[in-house]
Amino acid sequence: GLQVSSQRMRNRRKEIACRGDIERLTHCFLSIYESLIPPDEEKEKQKQLLASLEKLVNKEWPRAQLFLYGSCANTFGVSNSDIDVCMTLDDDGTSKSDILLKLAEILESDNLQNVQALTRARVPIVKLMDPVTKISCDICINNVLALVNTKLLRDYAQIDVRLRQLAFIVKYWAKSRGVNETYHGTLSSYAYVLMCIHFLQSRRPAILPCLQGMKATYVVKIDNVDYGYFDKVEELRDFGAVNNESIGFLLWAFFDYWAYCHDYANDVISVRTAGIISKREKDWTRRIGNDRHLICIEDPFEVNHDLGRVVDKYSIKILREEFERAADVLQYDPNPSVKLFEPY
Ligand code: CTP
Ligand code: MG
Repeated sequence: GLQVSSQRMRNRRKEIACRGDIERLTHCFLSIYESLIPPDEEKEKQKQLLASLEKLVNKEWPRAQLFLYGSCANTFGVSNSDIDVCMTLDDDGTSKSDILLKLAEILESDNLQNVQALTRARVPIVKLMDPVTKISCDICINNVLALVNTKLLRDYAQIDVRLRQLAFIVKYWAKSRGVNETYHGTLSSYAYVLMCIHFLQSRRPAILPCLQGMKATYVVKIDNVDYGYFDKVEELRDFGAVNNESIGFLLWAFFDYWAYCHDYANDVISVRTAGIISKREKDWTRRIGNDRHLICIEDPFEVNHDLGRVVDKYSIKILREEFERAADVLQYDPNPSVKLFEPY
């Protein structure tokens, strides 16, 4: 029953094709993409800040190391973003809160600005702003999985440039339209990038492979669990070449999928398997605590983690209306490259 009706929903709009002037749109979107890429000097500044922060923390913790993660390291970051840093250090039983409070004290006495320890957040961090470069920075402790998922995203981006192009435009759209705010019940940048990867894995012919479904050439052990995938992406450089869909078309098809084709009642998207998993199979059918599962995006490594869990019954409506608006603008509007990003 359910299977049939979701299949019917997927077929419902088969007859609708994208507009005729899609190549013109592709040009517009590619120039927006180019303008969002951070210049090399900015990357250089970030690295220098990281090195000087590492020197500073090594006075207290000689074996500690600092790593960039998130958008400044996964190649999905636009110009002038804040940077995400993870400090790794040996576990000597000291609580994360105590480490963060000590870290905040050290940073403050070195004249870093706006230093603030957020010890009770889901991911506890210290925030700071470097007065020299004006770069803002969040530092977390021993969040090794975030380093691994950062590498996964970076590796996917190297396989086909259309992923980075699509994700830049989708993130830019989400920020312009106010639907990239997890504290207001909409989705994180990380969730949007996973949606883009899943979407490109599902094209026929596929534009991206399923790296976690291939022989693992990179494996990390965290708390005795192995996390691995195929990371020799230079061998996959022309994987998507048999599919020549343009970025204008893909952007329309992405929003059309989330507006009219995704089965919100039954489906979980999964980059790990390059497919759809049923909510029933994951036991994500009812609300448990604050997890509502109104839009389901499986984390590639923490498989019990639904990136859609921040979405509530009000924000799901806003999100779906925004997907529909974007799909309709791309289908019918005479000037979609302006209308799509109109401030809300
Ligand atoms: N992350 C995670 N689980 C989440 C959210 C984020 O593991 N539920 C990690 C991921 O490694 C992600 C990083 O935190 O790459 C930063 O995620 P996010 O804040 O969503 O944003 P960025 O990718 O940094 O994008 P931007 O800052 O450009 O919006
Ligand atoms: Mg970030």
